[in-house]
Amino acid sequence: MDFEYIIEARDLTYSYEKKDGAPMSLKGVSLGIKPGIRTVILGANGAGKSTLFYHFNGVFKPKSGEVLYRGIPLCYDKEILYQLREDIAVVVQNPDEQIFSSTVEEDVAFGPMNRNLPPDVVESRIRDSLFKVGMEEFRNRPTTQLSYGQKKRVAIAGALAMEPKVLILDEPTAGLDPQMSQEVMELVDQMCMTGTTVIISTHDVDLAYAWADEIHVLRLGHLVYSGKPEEFFEDRDSVALSGLSLPHTFSINHSLEAIRGLPDAPYPRTNSQLLAKLAPSDSDFGRIRIVPVSQDSQIDTDGDVVGVYGFEAKKLFRDRGISADINFNAIEGCCLSAMQGHDTTIYCDQELAATIRYRIGILTMFGHVPEVV
Ligand SMILES: Nc1ncnc2c1ncn2[C@@H]1O[C@H](COP(=O)(O)OP(=O)(O)OP(=O)(O)O)[C@@H](O)[C@H]1O
Ligand SMILES: [Mg+2]
Repeated sequence: MDFEYIIEARDLTYSYEKKDGAPMSLKGVSLGIKPGIRTVILGANGAGKSTLFYHFNGVFKPKSGEVLYRGIPLCYDKEILYQLREDIAVVVQNPDEQIFSSTVEEDVAFGPMNRNLPPDVVESRIRDSLFKVGMEEFRNRPTTQLSYGQKKRVAIAGALAMEPKVLILDEPTAGLDPQMSQEVMELVDQMCMTGTTVIISTHDVDLAYAWADEIHVLRLGHLVYSGKPEEFFEDRDSVALSGLSLPHTFSINHSLEAIRGLPDAPYPRTNSQLLAKLAPSDSDFGRIRIVPVSQDSQIDTDGDVVGVYGFEAKKLFRDRGISADINFNAIEGCCLSAMQGHDTTIYCDQELAATIRYRIGILTMFGHVPEVV
């Protein structure tokens, strides 16, 4: 790789109106998206998030400044943009702007068919993508008969079916119910773990804080911060001026400093990290077993609290009619379960086991933690 940023914006300026003196929606935005890093573009309503995303796949051409993909400035030639969109999939905020086929199946098939992929590949892309967003049963539904959240899931499936190198999601969880929000975040997390660069926009500070490795904050078209989430939230004035609030976990952690005399750092981002910081060193935790599964694996759900993480593991459970105790956000759920004293097993895809172990290992930074076997 001979580039630092997979996508870079340099001094980007954009106005929706052509006339002189028209209001600017982006005002000299410069930022770099690092490959493989979980990135959030954070900003209040009207901050410029969607406008920025339309620049990332060349739908909008900047008034001044430039966008680079893999270190090369975008060229706005139709043919080259077509190739670019094979690599970069943007799921727009409003699914009605994205879905234009008459059935769910046709919509998800659109990208792979346009690439002239063989029919069996198109079929497996449709099946896998709809499975990942929990919309398999809706495959033959007219798209006009879907709820808002269902349309959103179909739009995400359409992007997954392209198997993009960069997946950009504009407000992916807005309008989704809590379980589906968690599922979508798990989905994008898994994409990250397996090599896709994922960028999401949101004004949900809790989501940004818990998920992002790096955030870029927009305020009225200006970029006001790029870096680790906790450093931004330390600056209360900037948070307030940006029309945002403090994440829940961040606030509680800060209060602990006053109540318990615990320093803010290290900053817990999740409930399990917060609990690890608080737990007495003689807490009677259960242990966590991480079990990668394959098609012929034995699954023993007796005794332990069972979590399942990853597409393959979930498919295996479903095909065998096995139900898990924790189906969503299972890394966090299993940590919490073990901290409540239960021996816990997390069944996962083979390729995710090392990352899951690493993620759970991060807990040790915070204090007393369950044993991982
Ligand atoms: N089609 C349009 N025509 C004119 N101005 C627009 C248009 N779309 C957006 N804007 C303006 O551009 C600015 C940035 O809007 P944008 O939609 O990018 O914000 P956002 O951060 O995505 O907000 P939200 O959280 O509400 O989705 C806003 O001031 C908005 O009013
Ligand atoms: Mg928007």
